[in-house]
Amino acid sequence: MTLLRLPGLVDAHVHLREPGYTHKEDFYTGTCAALAGGVTTVLDMPNTSPPTSTPERLAEKARLAAAKAVADVGLFVGATNTELDAYLPAAEQACGLKIYVSDTFGSLRIDELGALHRLFRTWAERRESSPAGLGPIAVHAEDLMLPACLALSQLYRVPLHVVHVSRRSEIELIRRAKEQGLPVTCEATPHHLFLSQDDLPRLGPRGDMRPRLATPDDVAALWEHLEVIDVFATDHAPHTLAEKTAPEPPPGVPGLETMLPLLLTAVHAGRLELADILARCVENPRRIYRLPEQPETFVEVDVDARFVLEDAAMQTKVKWTPFAGWEVFGRVERVVLRGKTVFAGGQVLARPGSGRVLFQPTGATAIS
Ligand code: DOR
Ligand code: ZN
Repeated sequence: MTLLRLPGLVDAHVHLREPGYTHKEDFYTGTCAALAGGVTTVLDMPNTSPPTSTPERLAEKARLAAAKAVADVGLFVGATNTELDAYLPAAEQACGLKIYVSDTFGSLRIDELGALHRLFRTWAERRESSPAGLGPIAVHAEDLMLPACLALSQLYRVPLHVVHVSRRSEIELIRRAKEQGLPVTCEATPHHLFLSQDDLPRLGPRGDMRPRLATPDDVAALWEHLEVIDVFATDHAPHTLAEKTAPEPPPGVPGLETMLPLLLTAVHAGRLELADILARCVENPRRIYRLPEQPETFVEVDVDARFVLEDAAMQTKVKWTPFAGWEVFGRVERVVLRGKTVFAGGQVLARPGSGRVLFQPTGATAIS
């Protein structure tokens, strides 16, 4: 056994589904899955029901998270076509603005240039006038929508974070944008790094997500451009197996519990360095999203432990993983958050509400 002590990881892209879809996940089960994966901070996406597109909804989400979460949670705001500016008064209470310009799950979709332009302009103006500044605009922008977002980011000098990059054309374009000094960062998911279209016959609907799995050449391009990828994030997007096997299954796969073992297995295979993981799962997301340090917080991982990922072992409410059957290295033995052991021996020990909600006016933490 070789115990390695790592800082608590940040997963900068999760869908914890509350409110509206709590049969898939909620703030308690989702953050339990986070701890089981060595993740002590998650950034939660706004495509819930209702979407997080007004200050009232953001405040309600913060209340739910403060009562239930066992890891720290930052919340994104989003915009709908009909509620473009409604989120603005709450911009400072969010970790960033999420814009969906490509096909996805839920009602948050900006599909018109005028609306997209307005969102960039208003976020940039708000950033200028906000004493503490604001986080980035995070975009789900595939294919031709990516250069549109890059151009708007340059025109307004507003930091842009491109989520789940999956294609060679996209990572090459982002490399070029960075070389030209654009304020752009990007992330890649474990499923786009470790799976391709070739896995679809085996996975069936369990392999369906947005962006869709790409070609082996696209996967190779992500690995070739590792230095361009700032963040590894899971896009933890749970749907029940019943939903995934019904006609017209929703896109998305869970990922919080499998990211660290998959990445450590890549270290074992010589494809990554441990420092690559720490940069992309701790240091860079903290810098990009301006996240606070977590004192006395660490994860103990047995890097020699070899085990098989199994649906039944998952803490996520939906109890499945597209990586079921994979043999991996790196078992999370213990997680300590602010001096308290919150996960050990495969069990979550933390009380609901012991996690903090970030960026709230009074700290909006649960009683602890
Ligand atoms: O596959 C996906 N599922 N991609 C997204 O962008 C959204 C997510 C979800 O919320 O289910
Ligand atoms: Zn997502």
